[in-house]
Formats: sequence, C-alpha cells, structure tokens
Amino acid sequence: RIKKVLGRRIWDSRGWPTVEVEIHLENGVMGRGLAPAGASCGMHEAVELRDGGTTLAGKDVQKALLNIENEIAPALAGIDIHDQQLIDNILIELDGTGTFSRLGGNAAVACSMAAINTAANNAGLPLWKYLAGDQKVALPLPQIQIFGGGAHAGRRIDIQDLMVIANGARSFQQALEMTAEVYHSAGRIMKQRGHLSGVADEGGWWPEFSSNEQALDTLVKAIEGAGYIPGQDVSIALDIASSEFGKNGRYRLALESTEYDSDGMCELLLGWLDKYPIVSIEDPLAEDDEQGLIAFTQAAGSRVQIVGDDYFVTNAQRVKEAAEKGACNAVLLKANQAGTISELRNAFSEAKKAGYGAIVSARSGETEDHIIVHLALGLNAGQLKVGSMARAERTAKWNEAIRLEDTYGLAFFGVNALNHK
Ligand code: PGA
Ligand code: ZN
Repeated sequence: RIKKVLGRRIWDSRGWPTVEVEIHLENGVMGRGLAPAGASCGMHEAVELRDGGTTLAGKDVQKALLNIENEIAPALAGIDIHDQQLIDNILIELDGTGTFSRLGGNAAVACSMAAINTAANNAGLPLWKYLAGDQKVALPLPQIQIFGGGAHAGRRIDIQDLMVIANGARSFQQALEMTAEVYHSAGRIMKQRGHLSGVADEGGWWPEFSSNEQALDTLVKAIEGAGYIPGQDVSIALDIASSEFGKNGRYRLALESTEYDSDGMCELLLGWLDKYPIVSIEDPLAEDDEQGLIAFTQAAGSRVQIVGDDYFVTNAQRVKEAAEKGACNAVLLKANQAGTISELRNAFSEAKKAGYGAIVSARSGETEDHIIVHLALGLNAGQLKVGSMARAERTAKWNEAIRLEDTYGLAFFGVNALNHK
C-alpha cells in the first residue's frame, strides 16, 4: 500500500524544469516517475501545468508540485499499488477537468509512471515483465532520427523528423548499428558541405538545408554512403508534424514557396512518397484536418504506415472514432499526452482492435528515464520512437533496450511491425 507520494523539481533535456515523483510503500519499496515535455503539442493533449510569470520563462512547476503535496498525496495514501486503474482513476477524478488542466498533466503522468514502476519493483520484476505477464513479447522496431527539424530546430526546415528504419535488421542491436552508420554518414556529408552545425532537440543533425527535398535527398545519400540500399536495407520514416504549420485547411510551410490547401498538401506528400523510400509518415495533415487525413489514408494507406500523433493525442475515443472513418493506420503513444498509463493502455487497445500499428514514443523534452522502452516491450506494441543516436536522454532508451535484448534473449519485431493497410 502507498505510504508517501513525494514530488520534486528536476530538469529536462532542454534545460527546463519538470516533475519527478517518488512513491514509497509501507514496506519500504519505492519507484519513480519522470515527466517528459513536448514542443510540438497537440491541442487536445493533457495540459502541462506551468507557473507563468517571469522566473524560468514562466515554465517552473511549483504549482504542480504543490498539487502533488496537497491533493494527490493524501488521495493516494493507503491505496493498493497493484491497482493501477484505480490509481489513475483517482488522479482523473481528483482533477475533474478531463484535461488535467487543474492538477497538471505533468503532475499526473509523473504519479502514474511512479505507480507502475513502484508496482513492478514491489513484484520484484522489471517493468516490461510485470506488464507482459505470461504474454510472449518482442523488442520493438525503432524509428531513429537522423535530421531534426520543425519546432525542434527553430523551424529551419518544415519536416520535424527525418528518421530511418533499418528494414534489414534481425535484432535490436543490429538496427542500432545500421542506424549509427547512417547517422555518421549523414554527419560526414554535412561536414563536407560545410553545413555541420550541431544537433537539434532530439539529437538529429541540425537541418542546414535550403529545401525540404534537399533534406530528403541528403538522407538518401547518407543511407547510400553507409553502404546500404535505400528502401531495401534502410528506409525513411517522416514526422511532418503538420499541425505546426497547418490550420483551417491552409498549410504555410517555411521552405515551400506556395501556400497549400489540404489537397495540395496531400499532393506534395504523395510526390515525396513516389520519389523517396518512405515507409512511415506521421501527422501528414494537421490535427484539425480530418478530411485531409482520411483522403491521404485512402490514397497512400495501402503502401505506407500513416501515424497519428497530434491527431490522436493517445486518446482511446479519438482512435476509435478515427478507425471508423478510416483516418491513419497507426497510433503514436505518449503517456503525457493522455496523462496516465491506464489511458495509454486504453488507446493501445483501441489501436489493436482497429488493426492499427502502435508506436510508443518519447517527447522532444526528455529525461534520463527509460520507462518507454519497458512500455513498448511489455505491451508488445511493436514500434518505438525516441529521437536520434546522440544525446544521453536518447541513448538512455536505446541502451536499455540493448541491455534487455542481451539479458533476456528477447525476439525482435523487425520490419513486420509496420502497418500498411
Ligand atoms: P514533441 O515531438 O515531443 O515536441 O511533440 C515529438 C513528436 O512530434 O512526435
Ligand atoms: Zn509527432
């Protein structure tokens, strides 16, 4: 049973404050939860509570910490740590807004993550095993960023994530090795051009390009430069994050000369699908452009994975409704979009029911925590998105997956985890 819930302020990978929670049980067992933070957030996400004012650009989290101390801790005292659904329901009901705008989504997700970690610790199991139970699970196929962009790179280019998927990899370890070769090949190309300017928020190379297509061309060259055949050994995955520049059916891209309507945006992307070895594309149209998402899925859903991130915001009801309408064919899962682990699990269940793919994902603002690796593995989600090969908040996740593969001799999903239909 829960004895104490303690919150504290820690720092995320962009140097901003975030919330850490410790749950202590009566028997002395303890577990932590660390809230990540997005930059390109969906409008229906759980609301992060920030203090406002001038200190730390208004991003401090003292109010969220006070809510943990004054409201959440007393409400969770004495609760059975193994009843995650009850714990998450208490958080949801105590908040009362449906969006965590009162207590803070950052407070809630840190508590919910702390609870599941504490439960696993109390059971004496690694989290993935606690979640998997008797179910046979496999390591997820990673999507790994090579170039950053969009809101993670000062809008230097429009596309937010230029990632690769190592089609040919037979193990997690091999997928990472192949991707590292591509990552360093890309770095060499940028250096030769005199365009090597550090990395973006998720560790991908800074996108010193004059067009979106130049970024795509360079990624193909980087795959070739690493000795791989594009599309056969290594493919491309994109996160367009188009809610960042698209609203009310108008798309204003920084590096494209014309402003597009929804059809024009679809055509631009379909052109890229024809020209480049792309196997997965996230948020191709904006979160408020459902008709566009449906049209794009009809046009391309049989040949590529179409992932909804801002559009689904890890919400089971939104996934269910979209599946009935035929929008997207895969769901990005981020615990802090939903606010609790139970809601993430519900969104995953709806994705599975709909025959959609599922990708457990990090945020652009991360911590050293590696819970998402255990969630992806324990739920048997199939895919994992963390960011790039550089920066320790990213390698914390990759290295944990490698450790689990090595320790438990786990199977690897491989490219079959991708969904096209
Ligand atoms: P975010 O980016 O964490 O800034 O939202 C990640 C994503 O869009 O997938
Ligand atoms: Zn996204």
